[in-house]
Amino acid sequence: MKTRILKDTTEDIKLAAKIIDEGGLVAFPTETVYGLGANALNPEAVGKVYAAKGRPSDNPMIVHIASKEDLAKLTPQITGDMETLMETFWPGPLTMIVERNPEIPDVTTGGLDTVGVRMPDNKVALALIDASGWPIAAPSANLSGKPSPTRAIDVIEDLSGRVDAIIESDNCSFGIESTVVDMTGPEPMILRPGIITEKDLQEALDKPILMDPTLNVRPDRFNNDNFKPKAPGMKYKHYAPKAEMMIFEGEAEAVEAAINAERMERELLGQKVAVITYDSGNPKQAARRFFAELRDADRHGADAILAAAIEEEGIGFSVMNRMLKSAGYNIRKV
Ligand code: TXA
Ligand code: MG
Repeated sequence: MKTRILKDTTEDIKLAAKIIDEGGLVAFPTETVYGLGANALNPEAVGKVYAAKGRPSDNPMIVHIASKEDLAKLTPQITGDMETLMETFWPGPLTMIVERNPEIPDVTTGGLDTVGVRMPDNKVALALIDASGWPIAAPSANLSGKPSPTRAIDVIEDLSGRVDAIIESDNCSFGIESTVVDMTGPEPMILRPGIITEKDLQEALDKPILMDPTLNVRPDRFNNDNFKPKAPGMKYKHYAPKAEMMIFEGEAEAVEAAINAERMERELLGQKVAVITYDSGNPKQAARRFFAELRDADRHGADAILAAAIEEEGIGFSVMNRMLKSAGYNIRKV
């Protein structure tokens, strides 16, 4: 398949919208990561997304809308809490899991009776959804298992020849995927942590927010059969770079020393080593850079990626969630 590389101009967005309307696939920017979009109500189009990504078909997709009113078309009932979160955080990096209307095909929700919905905060994404006239189902625009794409070049690398069009636009400002919060129970539960944190949701709703207890657990607990993540997508090996990745956890100085020692040892063996360290005081910057740095390490042929853990507080918790998965929970305590 020939993939058209489009610009983020009004004219090209119109063209992309036409491709969506005709049942095709278009990769487009959002404020979190690039998404691979299809008409959410067209089962054949959505089926093609799974094929293009090589994604397991039990992993449901997030449906993107361009106006808050459109939520009512996807779910039978909008609760007070849903209303509050939508007014507080949309457009923005928050996905709500809600009961689904029957018009949404099974293939979009992986057969679940719920659907994830969000209104992205990116004008190209909003213009595309609006011009297509459809809600757009979009997972991240990477090949399944690879790090999420935060730059157009990453999307082109993964999906050229596999989708109808890619809209080339700016780098994503947040760099990790949206916070996913399940709104179907009596208490909201975070299934995937993101830039909008537990504390943000708690303040908006003025009630406690639950967290999927499997988030960020270390391998000894992870191997327990009862410990199943609630968002289907969270169970897959994820975001993995080609290089072997290792996370160093401990006091800052000890971590630095251990990373340096490991690096020297590996370089003496002729390996290429990439080091990733972030300022724990600036987890937003870590979020913006992380996936791009994994991809750059792979592009430069790194054999190993050595990363310093960051403090698991607020957005730092969300960044560590991605780091742990990328490293396949390969952690060294120092
Ligand atoms: O920021 C984002 O959310 C990006 C951009 C493109 O919007 N999209 C994204 O989609 O990250 P994806 O498909 O890579 O991740 C969706 C996550 C998966 O973990 C999936 O299992 C979960 O959301 N999810 C979707 N619908 C769900 C549902 N009905 N119930 C539980 N989890 C759901
Ligand atoms: Mg993804």
